[in-house]
Amino acid sequence: MPSDCAIGIHDLSCATTEFVLPHATLAGHNGTEIGKYHVGIGQQSMSVPAADEDVVTMGAAAAAPIVARHGADRIRTVVFATESSIDQAKSAGVYVHSLLGLPSATRVVELKQACYGGTAALQFAIGLVLRDRRQQVLVVASDISKYDLDSPGESTQGAAAVAMLVAADPALVRIEEPSGLFTVDVMDFWRPNYRDAALVDGEESITVYLQAVESAWKDYTEQGGRSLDEFTAFCYHQPFTKMAYKAHRHLLNTCGYDTDESRIGRAVERTTAYNRVIGNSYTASAYLGLAALLDQADDLAGRPVGFLSYGSGSVAEFFAGTVAPGYREHLRTSAHREAIDRRRTLDYAAYRELHERSLPTDGGDHPVPQQTTGAFRLAALRGHKRIYERR
Ligand code: CAA
Repeated sequence: MPSDCAIGIHDLSCATTEFVLPHATLAGHNGTEIGKYHVGIGQQSMSVPAADEDVVTMGAAAAAPIVARHGADRIRTVVFATESSIDQAKSAGVYVHSLLGLPSATRVVELKQACYGGTAALQFAIGLVLRDRRQQVLVVASDISKYDLDSPGESTQGAAAVAMLVAADPALVRIEEPSGLFTVDVMDFWRPNYRDAALVDGEESITVYLQAVESAWKDYTEQGGRSLDEFTAFCYHQPFTKMAYKAHRHLLNTCGYDTDESRIGRAVERTTAYNRVIGNSYTASAYLGLAALLDQADDLAGRPVGFLSYGSGSVAEFFAGTVAPGYREHLRTSAHREAIDRRRTLDYAAYRELHERSLPTDGGDHPVPQQTTGAFRLAALRGHKRIYERR
């Protein structure tokens, strides 16, 4: 695509939670050999939301710096992607729209297809900008990954939000055509409406993720996509960082290459730095991978990056983006490091108490304990309504 008609990610901003649980603490509780967490699944720690945090507060925290930098004049659409929705009817995006003071002449909607929702939002945003290149779309992908205590999934929890401003002539990454697509009806991971924590068939979920990589790549090549050798790095959905290595190894095998470990490392390692300490953030995960890559790699200007988005159930998409010239001037590297480093470390008992906590459902007036120190918080539940405040 010629650069004068490029559309893609103009700004990218990440946020995470108030608290963090080191995997060493979880291992201390359940007797797991720490190597299984640090090496086996590639996780060091996981973000844990405070009582007064949810997908809205994280999403607003991620998006606020974008609005502060670019203003809201050209934003006419907000797409909020999540699978940790707070309401069956109202979009979490409307709360974010309100917290950020966006203009009323905006369309706002929430999207869902497990961890794939963030990519759906990005692609739909590109379609809108293609129709009117003056407009910008604010994409917010925000999720809390929660599994039952003492279940195998517990070590793959986490929480984060990524906000992306999608625009013509983007400063960070130009998203390309074509995409490789794949959908199959499978029950590898799901969360019925009556449950807080997800259900998962762990082994099956890894198998079908790998099948989805292969199938989305096959469609990508049939649609006339780039060859594997052209890519400088690959941003995979990372439920745990080791999954990116498994996925890339599988892709290399599918394409008839040797599974040379150093080649796999070069392709994915730089994308894992944030996910390794934040954990699974569902819709945000692949874009946390992109943030980590851009924030720490040598100059990638002009280099193609591959994206593989996987959402259980399942839908997958493979697509390419080319890093824009001068992108480094627009990064938020120190803010991302600060969001990770400022988290306060929980002991096991405090983590368990937060995990077991659920919001009252009686419709009464319930202030929410003030635990966060960030810009946005869930202040109360009143008459079945969530009351948010901006500090
Ligand atoms: N030192 C080093 N490595 C060790 C070790 C040690 N002491 N002990 C074990 N390991 C390794 C194992 O060999 C294994 O490695 P391989 O996968 O390379 O064989 C790895 O650690 C994990 O060990 P197990 O498979 O025994 O771990 P488990 O039974 O606890 O399950 C899990 C792991 C399936 C990921 C589980 O945590 C889970 O169900 N998580 C949620 C589901 C999930 O994340 N699925 C991913 C695909 S689905 C998706 O991507 C969508 C999504 O976001 C959910």
